[in-house]
Amino acid sequence: MNIRVKRLMEKKGNEKIAALTAYDYPMAKLVEEAGLDFILVGDSLGVVVLGYDSPLDVTMEDMLHHTRAVARGATETLIIGDMPVDTYNTISDAVYNAKRFMDAGAQGVKVEGPKTDVVEALVKEGIPVMGHIGLTPQSITDYRVQGKEKGEAERIIGEALALEKAGVFSLVLECVPESLGEEITNSIKIPTIGIGAGRYCDGQILVIHDLLGLFDRYVPKFAKQYLRLRDDIRNALISFRQDVKQGNFPQEENVYK
Ligand code: KIV
Repeated sequence: MNIRVKRLMEKKGNEKIAALTAYDYPMAKLVEEAGLDFILVGDSLGVVVLGYDSPLDVTMEDMLHHTRAVARGATETLIIGDMPVDTYNTISDAVYNAKRFMDAGAQGVKVEGPKTDVVEALVKEGIPVMGHIGLTPQSITDYRVQGKEKGEAERIIGEALALEKAGVFSLVLECVPESLGEEITNSIKIPTIGIGAGRYCDGQILVIHDLLGLFDRYVPKFAKQYLRLRDDIRNALISFRQDVKQGNFPQEENVYK
């Protein structure tokens, strides 16, 4: 088993896991310097970086381009590539595309939903797989908390158990009630990574643009903005414009003699 994957799995019950998405070289470098436990090159890339309307518009080429950049920035951190929609509809597509992520510098891939046959096939090929259940943006159009009703909660618990059995090394739980996040975390031996799944998951992940206040189309309730970087960046850009217009930039120290 990949040593970075093994180390992540060993944190369950010993240490909370803190993870972030990243999509490019400078951010991946910073995430690594800050000591995060893994980086997800999420298909959220499409919305927060590429300006698409939906993560469904993201292509393999988009994801590979950004995975390569992240791998150049974070050379020691576990990197997981998020398989875009329709790239793992068949076993042969799944294996082919997952291998492309590994060639681009990821050490594992994430797939959404209870795709146990895909997971089994990838694991058989030696590719570590992270699962993702609850709110799965590739297949759900009503963005609401999943598993509030008993039947739905039981289905999600069943998916978690089936994915663990199929061989996922970790499981993202997105937008489920805290009690369901806790129940799943206590029912499986692999680490759960929550995003809107409450305080009792084994770890937490956020989209880095939400944490930094870099994305303004919406801020989910589960996200915490540690900075309002959009405001700082805009102010810096305005200052530059004003400096140039008023002849205050460049200064003596910025010119060659
Ligand atoms: O694409 C993504 O960023 C994700 C996280 C929300 C887990 O899948």
